[in-house]
Amino acid sequence: MSPTEANTNIAGVDPSDGLAVLEQRGSVAETFGIPLAVLAELTHRCPLQCPYCSNPVELERGGSELTTEEWKNVLTELAEIGVLQIHFSGGEPTARKDLVELVQHASDVGLYSNLITSAVLLTREKLSALADAGLCHVQISFQGNEPVLADRVAGFKGAHQKKIEVARWTRELDLPLTVNAVMHRQNLFQLPDIIQMALDMDADRLEVANVQYYGWALRNRAALMASVAQIEETSRIVEQAQARLKGTLEIDYVVPDYYALRPKKCMGGWGRQFFNISPAGKILPCHAAESITGLEFLSVRSNHSIAWIWQNSDAFNRYRGTGWMPEPCKSCEFREVDFGGCRCQAFALTGDAGNTDPACTLSPMHEQIFKLAEQEAAGGSNRFLYRNFAGGTLEMDGDNGA
Ligand code: SF4
Ligand code: FES
Repeated sequence: MSPTEANTNIAGVDPSDGLAVLEQRGSVAETFGIPLAVLAELTHRCPLQCPYCSNPVELERGGSELTTEEWKNVLTELAEIGVLQIHFSGGEPTARKDLVELVQHASDVGLYSNLITSAVLLTREKLSALADAGLCHVQISFQGNEPVLADRVAGFKGAHQKKIEVARWTRELDLPLTVNAVMHRQNLFQLPDIIQMALDMDADRLEVANVQYYGWALRNRAALMASVAQIEETSRIVEQAQARLKGTLEIDYVVPDYYALRPKKCMGGWGRQFFNISPAGKILPCHAAESITGLEFLSVRSNHSIAWIWQNSDAFNRYRGTGWMPEPCKSCEFREVDFGGCRCQAFALTGDAGNTDPACTLSPMHEQIFKLAEQEAAGGSNRFLYRNFAGGTLEMDGDNGA
């Protein structure tokens, strides 16, 4: 089935909204830049309990998830409006029994598909079926380079060993592999070994991602926050490895913005280059957007098309561009470089998503927040609050992922 054939019948979309069936392929992209890649959070269910999970603290229950048919309609619609890549994520996307069917549908409508997985639920047969269905790329998250610490961070015994196995199967099936390593105070010392692990796995890419502090990670900030010295050492190790491994292993590095002078251009700017779809079908400007209260996020179950939501909904337009900015952003020469940083971080740390991201040194709140981070790095408890549907469980003495 071609994308055009499929899109003439998008279930639940009001044909009168004018964008339900785009007359001209790419017409929306010319105006508002429909993202080339979209993140589909198929479910919030996950066997792991990582304390820095990017999912909202209020997780969506399995019963509210989009059905197989609804997801297929979404994939069809995405392909039609010009999206090229779909990242299947979660929670743990392999917890969905219909994943092979969804990957197959993504292939059928011409989407390049990437699986972002913790890997622990995969069998070789399942991975092989996903490859046969047209899966193009696999990204596996690692919590460390050895099982004791990695299983403890994940809150799941046996996770690390299983991930190593799945990474091997991935390469045996000739699928490109990205290793994603989320780094924080308690595992940064393993970074050189994690780089070696990615090399040994024949990974194409390694993402060295320092924790970003909203949602679960903000709750766990005292247990995760690294020191300035640790971050400087990390940057040195990454730079050396990038030079040494050029052409062999691509290493992406995300600096923790508490320690940067300027905030990151989060999501490429709110509503400019990215959206994701929550398990229940809400179209979100970023994975953490639901942490901001006072914004209404429309769903694919509404009577609006995805393109309409992207283009017209209040949630996307509220912080789009530069018109919403207060000082110091308003008159700042960097306002179209970083678009004022991260709205979720501004909300989490100042209570107003319309403030300058305090990660910026020009924010009046920067110094106070930076000091707090330093104090937490120096004296915070190492105990995690594990992510789960119960609102979190505090790590007990002797927990090792069991
Ligand atoms: Fe970016 Fe605003 Fe800081 Fe300027 S003041 S660097 S626009 S966050
Ligand atoms: Fe939501 Fe940065 S994570 S805007």
